[in-house]
Amino acid sequence: MRIATIVGARPQFVKAAPVSRALRRVHSEFLIHTGQHYDDNMSAVFFRELGIPDPEFTLGIGSGQHGAQTGAMLAAIEKVLISERPDAVLVYGDTNSTLAGALAAAKLHIPVAHVEAGLRSFNRSMPEEVNRVITDHLSSWLFTPSALSAEQLRLEGITKGVHIVGDVMLDVTSEILKNISALPFLDTLRLKRGGYILATLHRAETTDDDQRLMHIIAALSNLHLPVVFPVHPRTAGRMRELGIALPPSITALPPVGYSEMLQLTLGADVVVTDSGGLQKEAYFVSTPCVTMRTETEWKETVELGWNRLCDPDRGDLLSCVSLARSSRSLSHPSIYGDGDAAGAITRILADG
Ligand code: UD1
Repeated sequence: MRIATIVGARPQFVKAAPVSRALRRVHSEFLIHTGQHYDDNMSAVFFRELGIPDPEFTLGIGSGQHGAQTGAMLAAIEKVLISERPDAVLVYGDTNSTLAGALAAAKLHIPVAHVEAGLRSFNRSMPEEVNRVITDHLSSWLFTPSALSAEQLRLEGITKGVHIVGDVMLDVTSEILKNISALPFLDTLRLKRGGYILATLHRAETTDDDQRLMHIIAALSNLHLPVVFPVHPRTAGRMRELGIALPPSITALPPVGYSEMLQLTLGADVVVTDSGGLQKEAYFVSTPCVTMRTETEWKETVELGWNRLCDPDRGDLLSCVSLARSSRSLSHPSIYGDGDAAGAITRILADG
């Protein structure tokens, strides 16, 4: 089968790493990079570090209002699909690049494969929720990371083409963990295992509400341990605009590479984040997580007690973090598969 894979944002590069490798053993694949993330440390570093093949098409769309960004991607992807005529289009997750890829393919009657299908926050004010709901409803293959996400699709009337394959991010994490014996990045930053909190914030719902962003940063300043904070460009921009200065207990870093991030996650006492991917990575490496949101797509991690929701406006982060630390003794089942989701996706696509 000839497959066009659409990527554009940081988490999609990570997911493409194992899937492209597995797909190319059996199928013919080409990559279309929309350009949604374009800084070297948000994009190229992942291609280098994770050995992702160079994109055959780079669209250079960049930032913009959601409609303009998605629309520009839609037009540019459509052109490539018309000239290349792939048998299927594969998209990942919930970004504007995902939606544009799925919509361009559906309009050309090219079947869509959605990796990370069936996730829901039930919060339609998040652009990601709109993207994932529409993409699922346009897809012919829906590859879900867990049984719960397949059940959600069933509740929405989608039963055909649904495959529980496990989480592709577990493929990447397991592979890297095999080769990590020490945590050299912690030494570089003079950090001790368990001696810091790792924080990330990037979602529009967090960064675009001034009060909320200031409340979270103030709460991070009051934790029992120092905080390491790799700052997403969107968040850095908002902090500059609002004149937010960080106290010495918070160390801001530019966005870090994948292995560095995994080392930081593994060594942290607790992770505090609004990221979807990081909530799961924390679970993979058995680090307790506090999610600065009122809901999450990764409900299994909350049900098992490894992830705690903290209201970003009114929540008491200090007590959420203290409670989270007690999760380390909880049971830790393999809810996201066996680390070979990419192999399963490849086989299912080969069966047509
Ligand atoms: C996007 C996805 C989100 C995903 C996240 C991962 C959507 C709606 N959101 O959010 O689902 O979890 O990626 O990071 O698709 N910027 C740079 N350099 C870059 C990339 C972005 O400076 O390389 C800045 C730009 O000012 C841009 C802002 O960050 O306006 C936000 O980027 P955008 O593409 O809108 O989405 P993310 O917030 O990264």
